[in-house]
Amino acid sequence: MASKAIDELTEAEAKAELLALAQAIAAANAAYHTQDAPEMSDAEYDRLKQRNAAIEARFPALKRADSPSEQVGAAVADGFGKVAHAVRMLSLENAFDDADVVDFEDRIRKYLNHAGPLAFTAEPKIDGLSLSLRYEGGRLVQAATRGDGEVGENVTENARTIADIPQTLIDAPDVLEVRGEVYMSHADFAALNARQSEKGDKSFANPRNAAAGSLRQLDARITAARPLRFFAYAWGQVSAPLSSSQKGAIDRLQTLGFQTNPLTRLCETAEDLINHYRQIEAQRATLGYDIDGVVYKVNDLALQQRLGFRSTTPRWAIAHKFPAELAWTTLLGIDIQVGRTGALSPVARLQPVTVGGVVVSNATLHNEDYIAGRDAKGNLIRAGRDIRPGDWVQVYRAGDVIPKIADVDIGRRKNDVESYEFPHECPECGSPAIREEGDAVRRCTGGLICPAQAVERLKHFVSRNAFDIEGLGAKQVEMFFRDHDLAVKTPADIFTIAARDAANPLKKLKNRDGFGETSVTKLFAAIEDKRKIGLDRLIFALGIRHVGEAAANLLARHYSTWAAFEGAVTQAVPGTQAWEELLSIDGVGKTLAESLTAGFQNPAERAAIDTLIAQLDVQPVIWRAAADSPVAGKVVVFTGSLEKMTRAEAKARAESLGAKVAGSVSAKTDLLVAGPGAGSKAKEAARLGVETIDEDAWLALIGDA
Ligand code: IVH
Repeated sequence: MASKAIDELTEAEAKAELLALAQAIAAANAAYHTQDAPEMSDAEYDRLKQRNAAIEARFPALKRADSPSEQVGAAVADGFGKVAHAVRMLSLENAFDDADVVDFEDRIRKYLNHAGPLAFTAEPKIDGLSLSLRYEGGRLVQAATRGDGEVGENVTENARTIADIPQTLIDAPDVLEVRGEVYMSHADFAALNARQSEKGDKSFANPRNAAAGSLRQLDARITAARPLRFFAYAWGQVSAPLSSSQKGAIDRLQTLGFQTNPLTRLCETAEDLINHYRQIEAQRATLGYDIDGVVYKVNDLALQQRLGFRSTTPRWAIAHKFPAELAWTTLLGIDIQVGRTGALSPVARLQPVTVGGVVVSNATLHNEDYIAGRDAKGNLIRAGRDIRPGDWVQVYRAGDVIPKIADVDIGRRKNDVESYEFPHECPECGSPAIREEGDAVRRCTGGLICPAQAVERLKHFVSRNAFDIEGLGAKQVEMFFRDHDLAVKTPADIFTIAARDAANPLKKLKNRDGFGETSVTKLFAAIEDKRKIGLDRLIFALGIRHVGEAAANLLARHYSTWAAFEGAVTQAVPGTQAWEELLSIDGVGKTLAESLTAGFQNPAERAAIDTLIAQLDVQPVIWRAAADSPVAGKVVVFTGSLEKMTRAEAKARAESLGAKVAGSVSAKTDLLVAGPGAGSKAKEAARLGVETIDEDAWLALIGDA
């Protein structure tokens, strides 16, 4: 290969050489796996990669989409780059029985007010991991894992090694994101595990873990040696629609060269769906790969569009799961874990048992009533059979969820076993653990003095959808919490670690096990980086009971700034205007409001929040105003009956245009959309002088008429 000095290369020569290098390196990668004796020495391989990088550094514009320097194997070993998904990657709601499926169809009909025919596709739910492939101009330019749905990991080089994934497409839209599942067949899984044990490497628990472990390899050459496959079943950003129907789009993906599942069918009714589900279930064991249910999707893409999304799942699809897998084993003991909100959760310690291919040694026992054989309303469950340590119990796993205890065989119980006494004191801090009326859960009352609650709050604070600090996960937080020098007891302490570490000449973090100069520098930089945080993430990160991600989003969008939010929730007590305003946010109920304001009005909690805020630069959340929408940023209330669409659809549509939909009329309301039968809200709007329009005028206003 030409070795002219890089300084002397012309642009045309550089371009040609980058192409040649990409091909040579790709060929070397392939040879490395298919031949026992690779053709190229490691030194030569490295030389080519270095030359490639040097040419790219001089001619950045010539860098190829399939550039070898993007290969993770050569990159720094601290993980994958991040990729923000152009269109979020969602998950699916689950249906567990036929009634849930009928209900799914009913809900769709109600939402759309649709009585005519309604077709669905039904296809296996592949038990692998989802991947989004981005093609530009027909070339694969990026592959990303789902991650948290918004940001995934860049696994482009690894994806390029999967035979089912085309590198180029003919006659595809200019921009096309194809989504689907990476999985491993049963045969390939068995062979891989055999190879692993021959080499003395650890074997994988199931094909899904094997697929995930293989795709997320920093060295793409390892991925290439693992037999991964891919089924396409969805899409993200597209510059031109693939079809007007789900089935049409899947067929189009197949024409483009993707594997699509041969068991995909078009079904006309819920009954059809269930029949197809039974057929797939009957073939499950002989398919040769793992599936964990059947996914149903509304076929008409215009209806999918109208149905839209809830916070993390589409309204137009559902996963009908197969029944859980079961096994019997001995309950060795019951441990109590204390959670972030003080909840005492009983955990079953089990004699390890294999359930559906996975070894299970812990399972949840839900709460004290469940152990005693009662449900939340006091009705008997398991015919009132209680669960005691030493019992022979039935364990089940449904999909990804934590294993549960389904039943107990009291015929095998020894006579002298005492019933289980659920503790009335927190096992971690000794504070009284009480049950509030109507709460199934007993909670530790220790608040911040309870070390278990404090640690769990910290873990939540740094979790992926909260502060998401790279290098600071549950493990590190736990260690820093227990460490006498670092003493990270509250979230604010995270932001002072660097300064305290600098001031401590003796026990530097970089000298401790598991750390080093580079990792500590990186960690401190990552923490520094997160001082700037969006209001929505911050509210969620505080870990207030009942304030999940969706609620945090609503609150952030409503109040926009920390000052406005903090002022409002500090003042809000029943009877005040602040309280009414809080409750007027659609999606904020009394339980949430009480929990939120209690947190802000408790002096100790409040002090911890204030100290934290002093460390941060909270970014306001700007309502994502659809720029050219006439209702962007407006507070809209719907009342009376709507005729052209359901209330739920009207609300979702208004929100997608950047409006805020409130549940009651107040001085802040900009617009009341009143249908026939409007009553007190219309009167209140008239009294306050709020503009009131009918449904047709609303549709005309938003351009849907
Ligand atoms: S559709 C917007 N179809 O299941 C809907 N998902 O539990 C996108 N999955 O994250 C998903 N097989 O990883 C769809 N035939 C299928 C699927 C499937 C497996 C996975 C996917 C998704 C998860 C949700």
